[in-house]
Amino acid sequence: MAEVKIARGWKDYELLMTGDGQKQERWGEYVLRRPEPQAVWPLGKSWSLPHAVYHRSKSGGGYWEYLQKIPAKWQIQYKHLKFNIEPTGFKHTGLFPEQAVNWDFAMDKISSVGRNPEILNLFAYTGGATAACASAGAAVCHVDAAKGMVARAKNNLALSGMAGKPVRFIVDDAIKFVKREIRRGRKYDGIIMDPPAYGRGPSGELWKIEDTLYELVELCAELLCDNPLFFIINSYASTLSPLLIENIMGLLLLKPLGGSIETFELGLEIKDTGMVLPCGFTGRWKK
Ligand SMILES: C[S@@+](CC[C@H](N)C(=O)[O-])C[C@H]1O[C@@H](n2cnc3c(N)ncnc32)[C@H](O)[C@@H]1O
Repeated sequence: MAEVKIARGWKDYELLMTGDGQKQERWGEYVLRRPEPQAVWPLGKSWSLPHAVYHRSKSGGGYWEYLQKIPAKWQIQYKHLKFNIEPTGFKHTGLFPEQAVNWDFAMDKISSVGRNPEILNLFAYTGGATAACASAGAAVCHVDAAKGMVARAKNNLALSGMAGKPVRFIVDDAIKFVKREIRRGRKYDGIIMDPPAYGRGPSGELWKIEDTLYELVELCAELLCDNPLFFIINSYASTLSPLLIENIMGLLLLKPLGGSIETFELGLEIKDTGMVLPCGFTGRWKK
């Protein structure tokens, strides 16, 4: 089996059941069911009663059906980090729990250097990695194209009592921002990116991962300081593979800088069957 890293440190999150293209999860005290393309096997029994179910509509998007009383927003905790969970119109909840594997790695690397490294977090969404890195002592630059996501990231940081931490929040297109940072001569100790398969920058800049990932990593390599800590690329895009990420990192990081690369699938353990749900994959370069 390809290497899989499973986020096991959660108390406030559990993947309860999967099947028939859906997954049922516990987020703190509330249970949600939503579509999951990877859950192709039959459930083979009836679902237990959740608080809400997400239904896809034929015209794209969808809606939540509420079966039990549930707040519009609530908090959950991962170790010392707190996050708002807020079901959105696109079945998202505001957090990717499988990413805890990468949060732990970054926290470990940052807290072991005994200085305050600079970390760049691209496609940073609601700031899971940003909060993790800041909590370990890093100064973080959090970049996302969506104003609403950056606002949610700020709220999450404050929720963990870290509103005063050195975090720069930037609403911008990832490639445009990186090119500007190169012109400014800025350097980073670590870079994290979790690009979607397809996305748009604030001014409609098109992001298509197959077409743009290599260029972005090549540009980001120019932002690394002389003695960088790590470079993380995460992807959910079904059109890519861990091997592809390994090749990109091999050419653009390993060859010029040495160090080592590891690629692996991310997974979440399914409570009722013990199977592991595939949740994308990550490539990590470290010195
Ligand atoms: C899958 S989410 C990232 C998840 C995040 N890394 C996490 O673990 O919490 C993708 C994010 O990319 C942002 N995005 C999409 N296109 C972008 C672009 N061209 N430049 C910057 N951010 C973009 C979206 O707003 C979204 O927040």
